[in-house]
Amino acid sequence: MAATQHFLDLGQFTKDELRKILDLAHALKAKLKEGEKPPLLEGKMLAMIFDRESTRTRVSFDVGMRQLGGQTLMLTGDEMQLSRDETIADTARVMSRYVDAIMIRLLSHDDLEEMAAAATIPVINGLTRFSHPCQIMADILTYEEHRGSIEGIKIAWQGDCNNVLMSWIQAANHFNCELKIACPEQYKPNQAMQAEIDATNGRVQVTQDPLAAMQDADLVITDTWVSMGDLDATIRREILSPHRVTAELMAEAKPDALFMHCLPAHRGDEVTSDVLDGPQSVVFDEAENRLHAQKAILCWVFGIEELK
Ligand code: CP
Ligand code: NVA
Repeated sequence: MAATQHFLDLGQFTKDELRKILDLAHALKAKLKEGEKPPLLEGKMLAMIFDRESTRTRVSFDVGMRQLGGQTLMLTGDEMQLSRDETIADTARVMSRYVDAIMIRLLSHDDLEEMAAAATIPVINGLTRFSHPCQIMADILTYEEHRGSIEGIKIAWQGDCNNVLMSWIQAANHFNCELKIACPEQYKPNQAMQAEIDATNGRVQVTQDPLAAMQDADLVITDTWVSMGDLDATIRREILSPHRVTAELMAEAKPDALFMHCLPAHRGDEVTSDVLDGPQSVVFDEAENRLHAQKAILCWVFGIEELK
């Protein structure tokens, strides 16, 4: 029997595998624009478990699964026995008897891995404190639509070293991108992220200078300063403020650089309105592309690699 194909992290894949999933996402999007919704996952049931808030992940997986002819079950950790100490492994074993795949958002990446180890069906990472791989698949799709190949581009990250950045580090490593991270000393990469950076052989670099990271950047990315699970919001806002992406900071990148943010955004904190709502911003394309990326990931975990 073939191994269960989970989607937990971009680091688990080869570059060729990610390329195939991205190509499938482009193809599924093109089909949808032609009005076609191939029922590739007819008869499949996806359980979606949300232990934390979500708009895009929740809606894009739900709509994506339905467009592919499948069905969804929406669950929250609170309403499951998980909240009364049933183990994540037992939950995985039970769910594996009912549904065909699980997409889960929870803070603990260890719990996600424990779930995947116990499940006999595919498990998809809908965001943990460690990483957010589904988002970065949509981001790459978006870059490629606007500018062509992601291969070898220069990326500037401003602000907190969080889950979205972790998945970008892994993507940069696969696609030979130069990623410059500008962050304050207090919120520099933790040990796990530093290990990931070290594995890129210099492709990913860290600086405390917001301007230095922007030089020659094709793509500028930021994210909230207060991720789910962060407790020190007031201090974070103060310390991270030099990394706010303003029009002046954007002007340090290439003139045609794109601006990305996974959303939800906090105008005036990590990015000013003129940038977020300005001509270089592709944030709503990123949000739309969650749908197409999610559909490709769903197909992939069910063994469908291309449109026939
Ligand atoms: N970007 C993202 O994952 O959004 P949600 O938290 O709304 O799912
Ligand atoms: N870094 C953010 C992403 C939200 C989609 C968080 O973890 O809250």
